[in-house]
Amino acid sequence: MLKIGDIKINNQVVLAPMAGVCNAAFRLTVKEFGAGLVCAEMVSDKGIIMKNEKTMNMLYIDEREKPMSLQIFGGERETLVEAARFVDKNSNADIIDINMGCPVPKITKCDAGAKWLLDPNKIYEMVSAVVDAVDKPVTVKMRMGWDEDHIYAIENAQAVERAGGKAVALHGRTRVQMYEGQANWDIIRDVKQAVRIPVIGNGDVTTPQEAKQLLDHTGADGVMIGRAALGNPWMIYRTVHYLETGELIPEPEVREKIEVCKLHLDRLIALKGERVAVREMRKHAAWYLKGVRGNGTVRNQINETETRDQLAGVLDQLVLDVEAKAAQVG
Ligand SMILES: Cc1cc2nc3c(=O)[nH]c(=O)nc-3n(C[C@H](O)[C@H](O)[C@H](O)COP(=O)(O)O)c2cc1C
Repeated sequence: MLKIGDIKINNQVVLAPMAGVCNAAFRLTVKEFGAGLVCAEMVSDKGIIMKNEKTMNMLYIDEREKPMSLQIFGGERETLVEAARFVDKNSNADIIDINMGCPVPKITKCDAGAKWLLDPNKIYEMVSAVVDAVDKPVTVKMRMGWDEDHIYAIENAQAVERAGGKAVALHGRTRVQMYEGQANWDIIRDVKQAVRIPVIGNGDVTTPQEAKQLLDHTGADGVMIGRAALGNPWMIYRTVHYLETGELIPEPEVREKIEVCKLHLDRLIALKGERVAVREMRKHAAWYLKGVRGNGTVRNQINETETRDQLAGVLDQLVLDVEAKAAQVG
């Protein structure tokens, strides 16, 4: 069993932190599809300290999604520690994760995110300071390095371990790569061999079989899935089932996809209000519809919707159309 500090995690499948995606509405949905651990979208340390209203809302956690991990990011020790302390005392997150992988220039410019990957000593300093300040287990999510010439994944993971970090999630790409090329799973294997804390492997897992391949190849303690879970919580469910039984569950039918999409929509409305939620849900709806025939025109209609009923109406009509076509063919 995967254990992070004293937090027991039922299986090896972890939902990756994704900004603009992994709020309580999506996390709960993915948790209900069997994820062992769900990670929240990154939250700015400064936003926490300023008690920015939007940031405070990002700290909302539903009891049913636990165990969950809340990720913070920042560039300075003082602010990162203060934010971690706030999350420790004022949220029911189980784990505090520190972002050291974000390649977005807005984040790296202020010395946060992936920039730390250039300096294991800085990682040690930052992680120790946070570990000392909080009771919850602290973990780190990192890319394998800054660029091809600066890959200190092993040194960085060892620094996290020495500093008292309780796990490392490793995305097998450099900062410079952004999302180009293939994720390097060899590095994940090397890191696994170099530390005793749990290692969660991440990068380019798109099927349940690939999740198993990553685990087999690297010996990692868990597998983290990001993009493949967008609009597709079944990916999580199918992966958990495949790892447990070796059996591959078929992909869902369009009706089931739409039902879950609407559940997700209603949860997002409860979280953010109808206006914001419907706008945000447009991208999710497009992801849910990936692979559904005729989704191009429907996507345009979705982008015009402003209310829950309009969006649900477009989705329901799509189900009827797809099923009617299937009946004709049948
Ligand atoms: C839309 C999106 C948002 C992301 N936001 C974050 C984030 O907030 N924190 C983080 O550590 N990684 C973030 N990532 C990176 C993912 O957690 C993950 O490392 C990456 O997508 C590789 O995994 P995958 O190949 O399974 O998608 C994000 C990725 C995507 C696609």
